[in-house]
Amino acid sequence: MLLRDVEPADYDAYVALRCDPAMMAELGGPQPLEAIGPKVAKDAADAAAGTSWIKMIVLDETYPEDVAGAVTIWRDHHGGEEFSEIGWMVLTAYQGRGVGKRAVAMLLDAARADGRWGPVHAFPGVTDAASNGICRSLGFDLLGPEEIEFAGRPFAANHWVYEAGV
Ligand SMILES: CC(C)(COP(=O)(O)OP(=O)(O)OC[C@H]1O[C@@H](n2cnc3c(N)ncnc32)[C@H](O)[C@@H]1OP(=O)(O)O)[C@@H](O)C(=O)NCCC(=O)NCCS
Repeated sequence: MLLRDVEPADYDAYVALRCDPAMMAELGGPQPLEAIGPKVAKDAADAAAGTSWIKMIVLDETYPEDVAGAVTIWRDHHGGEEFSEIGWMVLTAYQGRGVGKRAVAMLLDAARADGRWGPVHAFPGVTDAASNGICRSLGFDLLGPEEIEFAGRPFAANHWVYEAGV
C-alpha cells in the first residue's frame, strides 16, 4: 500500500468519494458536485505546502493514479481548542478488506515519527461501525459522544483520541 499526496488530477476520485450517497451516509450526505473542483484544488495546495497530510490510498504502487480511498491529518478547531484530527474514506468496492485500518495505521505511524502532530483526534459518526472499529482496534481512547459540524452540517460523532507513543 502507498499513501501519496492528493493532486488536482484526483478530481474523479474526489467525486467518487464525496458525491456518492452510500459513501457519505455516515458523513451528513453527499456533497454537491460544484464543491469538488475548489475542494480538490485547495487540498492539493495544502498537501503540497505540507500544512495538512492529505493522502490518497493506492493499493498497487505501479498504478498510483488508481485510488482506493483517502486518509488525512490536519489541524482543526473545536470549542476554542486547536488539535490534530484524522479522517478516512475507502471506496465501496474496496471496503471490508482491512484497507481503511491499514491506511490509518500507516498515517498514524508517519505522524508519530514526524513528531509535530501530538495527540490525534477522530470523530466518526455514532452509527459508523467500521470507523469506530478502526479507532477501537488501533488503540484510540473513546472520550464520548459529541455533536460536531462536518462540511457545514451538524453531525453526531464519537470523539476518540490517539495518544500512543506521543
Ligand atoms: C469507514 C471506512 C473507511 C472503513 O474502511 P474499510 O476498509 O472497509 O475498513 P476495514 O476493513 O479496515 O475495517 C476496519 C474495522 O472495522 C470493522 N468493520 C468493517 N466494516 C464493518 C461493518 N460494516 N460493521 C462492523 N464492523 C466493521 C472491521 O472488522 C475492522 O475491525 P477489526 O480490526 O476489529 O476487525 C469505510 O467504510 C468508508 O469509507 N465509509 C464511508 C466514509 C466514512 O464514513 N468515513 C468515516 C470518516 S471518520
